[in-house]
Amino acid sequence: MNKDIIEYRKTLEKDLDQNRFEHSLGVEYTSACLAFIHGCNVTDARIAGLLHDCAKCIPHSEQIKIMEKAGQPPLKEELDNQSLLHSKCGAIIAHDKYEIDDPDILNAIRFHTVGRPNMSLLEKIVYVADFIEPTRKELQIMERVRKAAFIDIDQALLWIMESVRDYVSGKGYAPAPSSIAAHDFYKNQIKVNEDLRNGRI
Ligand SMILES: [Fe+2]
Ligand SMILES: [Fe+2]
Repeated sequence: MNKDIIEYRKTLEKDLDQNRFEHSLGVEYTSACLAFIHGCNVTDARIAGLLHDCAKCIPHSEQIKIMEKAGQPPLKEELDNQSLLHSKCGAIIAHDKYEIDDPDILNAIRFHTVGRPNMSLLEKIVYVADFIEPTRKELQIMERVRKAAFIDIDQALLWIMESVRDYVSGKGYAPAPSSIAAHDFYKNQIKVNEDLRNGRI
């Protein structure tokens, strides 16, 4: 597999607007830091983080066409909330245009919006890095999620899923069934870290 990150960056810069490109660099760096501490392949984390939003600036109608052409038509939940389209479409573009063939990297891109039950470490890293990278808006929960990300990534994942669920329902949308399945899985799966939850570390 071609792992020339400099070349990926040059191509990506043309595919994204400036803010989205800066965000993607932030996710690349943050994914690398999380990979250091949690023992994941750092190059894979950088590539997945860098490319996770590679479809984000393509119009939704075009994203739908790309997905249909690839034999992966959108789910109803993706048509109802079209901001979800870019993750599955991004995995297609990462494969076809950036020639990424590592299934774990492609899945980290594919599931970065709603997550899924039983995520790989790389999938968790990109999901969490997307939320906490340095250019993200300073939400009230950001400080504790950033800290948790480096101590207990499952706890960070669950807090992000809860935050996204509250944001989506606050906007008047029904949460996507995929994100409910992922949230339910981690809610029942993870052992609550009382020290983190109570701000003791
Ligand atoms: Fe995204
Ligand atoms: Fe993103």
